[in-house]
Amino acid sequence: MRSCQSVDAAQSGASLLPGCFYPVAQSGAVTHRPIARTLGGQALAIFRDDRGHVCALDACCPHRGANLADGQVIDGSLACPYHGWRFAGDGSCVSVPSHPDRPIPARSQARSFDVVEQQGVVWVRLTEAAGQPPPPPFEVADDPRYRRFSIEGSYPGPADWWMENFLDISHVPFVHRRSFGGQHPRVLADPVERGVDDRSFTARVRVHYTYGLWARLIHGAVRDYSEDVRFRVTVPATIYLINDMGGGRRQALAFLASPEGPQRTRVILSVWRNYLTWLPGADALGRRFTRQVLDEDQRIVERSPAPMPTVDRPAMAADGAVQELARLMRRARARIAAESVSSEPQSQPAPHEPDPLAAVAHQKPESRA
Ligand code: FES
Ligand SMILES: [Fe+2]
Repeated sequence: MRSCQSVDAAQSGASLLPGCFYPVAQSGAVTHRPIARTLGGQALAIFRDDRGHVCALDACCPHRGANLADGQVIDGSLACPYHGWRFAGDGSCVSVPSHPDRPIPARSQARSFDVVEQQGVVWVRLTEAAGQPPPPPFEVADDPRYRRFSIEGSYPGPADWWMENFLDISHVPFVHRRSFGGQHPRVLADPVERGVDDRSFTARVRVHYTYGLWARLIHGAVRDYSEDVRFRVTVPATIYLINDMGGGRRQALAFLASPEGPQRTRVILSVWRNYLTWLPGADALGRRFTRQVLDEDQRIVERSPAPMPTVDRPAMAADGAVQELARLMRRARARIAAESVSSEPQSQPAPHEPDPLAAVAHQKPESRA
């Protein structure tokens, strides 16, 4: 049986942003059999009720603390594996088998959390906070010209590292030599464009890769090609990009990363493509390739003595998006810290800090090789 761990998320060190939805599972993984997930140190039992709605409960049973994720769904309610108490999706206890005729004490309520199921992903938030928007949409998800596959896994390292790593275009020829292959490309990076809401930005990067054969075939190309990548980043957990590879071939990716704990990250990565949609086995190959790429990234974070150095990082133009993400995350956390000591949280401005983009924006883009 899995261990049952339930902690105050604020104490976990995983720094969840209040009120924000975090991705915890692919829709297809959530059925009438509960699954275990951890978000910010909080153990969750996630299941689908009789109406097909996804429900997320604190995995620690309020009775004696058994793991509800090891239970089973009966008549739409989640039955604990220890004494069989049953909990509806809103956490209310609907049955105590040892005393079917007695009233159920009010304290028997399990904790439940807000869930959004959207475009194939299940999102959960542990706390409510005014003004926090729903998870961002992925435009190509409903476009019939695109075919999708997804992978999901739990990886070592902080969620912030994985988010930054996915924006980091210049590591590809070094870290992914075995999967992508190819030569060292120069990167042409436009300055990032900040959103109005201090929680999102867009960035554009162009790069000419000379990929190896394996990567070219996966991307439906025979020869070298250029990529024109437009990122849209929404803190804390979403990077969505459209990659124009020329010749009408376009790819979209949604990289989602949520902190299971301070040093553990759940990654859900969806890939849409408008090429090779007819080819049997292309999804399986794409999945294998994508897992290999993430495994290569994993080796970097596992070997990094300090995977998340903070303010004074040297940065080039290619690092602009990474720097901007780090800035937004620092600002969000600083606001939380300020609000936690203030009785009037809305009146607290974000603390001033040097703008890291000031160091990269003035650099002239390097010319294409
Ligand atoms: S521990 Fe869950 S019913 Fe007793
Ligand atoms: Fe990578």
